[in-house]
Amino acid sequence: MKRILVTGAAGFIGSHLCEALLARGDTVIGLDDFNDYYDPAVKRWNIAGPTASERFALHEGDIRDEDAVMRLFERERPDVVVHLAARAGVRPSIQDPNLYYTVNVIGGQHMLDACRRYPVSHLVFASSSSVYGGSTDVPFRETDPVARPISPYAATKRMNELQAHVYSHLYGLRVTMLRFFTVYGPRQRPDMAIHQFTRRILEERPVPMFGDGESRRDYTYIEDIIDGLIRCVDTPFRYEIFNLGESRTTSLRELIALIEKHVGKPARIDPQPLQPGDVPITYADISHAREFLGYNPRFDMDAGIARFVQWYRDQQTRE
Ligand SMILES: NC(=O)c1ccc[n+]([C@@H]2O[C@H](COP(=O)([O-])OP(=O)(O)OC[C@H]3O[C@@H](n4cnc5c(N)ncnc54)[C@H](O)[C@@H]3O)[C@@H](O)[C@H]2O)c1
Repeated sequence: MKRILVTGAAGFIGSHLCEALLARGDTVIGLDDFNDYYDPAVKRWNIAGPTASERFALHEGDIRDEDAVMRLFERERPDVVVHLAARAGVRPSIQDPNLYYTVNVIGGQHMLDACRRYPVSHLVFASSSSVYGGSTDVPFRETDPVARPISPYAATKRMNELQAHVYSHLYGLRVTMLRFFTVYGPRQRPDMAIHQFTRRILEERPVPMFGDGESRRDYTYIEDIIDGLIRCVDTPFRYEIFNLGESRTTSLRELIALIEKHVGKPARIDPQPLQPGDVPITYADISHAREFLGYNPRFDMDAGIARFVQWYRDQQTRE
């Protein structure tokens, strides 16, 4: 059984990871600053299950605070660190790039320094498909050139990959960088498209459709992401980058139709121009993750959206 530090523990992906690690018997230390990027009460609810476990300790703190990060490592001495805490979201990063650089890049640097000072077996670090920028050369491979990000958020994630490589090279820190492709499922961040569209269709409010509806995304169901993350928790690499996606794409128009089907109501589409920072397509080549991690995603969009909509309805009736 391992002692695993999960940063961003109260977020969408972090809370699912904490649950999965606790369920298999690990000890989990969660770190989160409960900021108001979205309602902190949602984050408290996300992490309510793990908080009830004796093998879970929750720390409220900010990864920008280097002393606080060091104190946490000194006290908790994790074996493995999964660093998910970050400012996520492309469009808000254009409004406030400084915030994204300080949290994602400086905060990421503090995590690397702490893992070096208080040696850990390895670090698993969240990157993003956004590092592929506006490329249409699909499917994206980990070996593709990724020097042309088109949003501050994407740039911070690419910087994280470079920072981590330096620490792997200079200090032998073992790091796995995971490029997540649009993750969805229960507890998905309320700012993300699937969550927003479901809410708006149910409330009979207009659904903004950016561009001509033909932009395509590789949407990855949360359980597949957690499976990939746990495989990385169990397998240290010197320095590896893995795409975690489903390796199939859905257009924006198809996505809206699928949500309409599961909600059982038509969408009132509100056409909008393409947004700065939006990429035309994401599409993961996952052969590297299949080969080295045994990653084998199982959820198709129809099953995944059905589960998301069911969860959405359940939590509406809970309130
Ligand atoms: N959800 C996706 O589709 C997706 C895709 C690619 C990459 N990612 C990455 O995966 C990670 C998790 O994403 P998510 O969708 O669960 O987002 P999320 O916002 O739900 O979770 C992130 C958590 O980190 C915490 N956090 C943010 N800044 C912090 C700070 N300064 N100190 C401590 N905690 C802080 C937040 O309070 C939040 O609970 C992020 O690094 C994100 O960039 C997510």
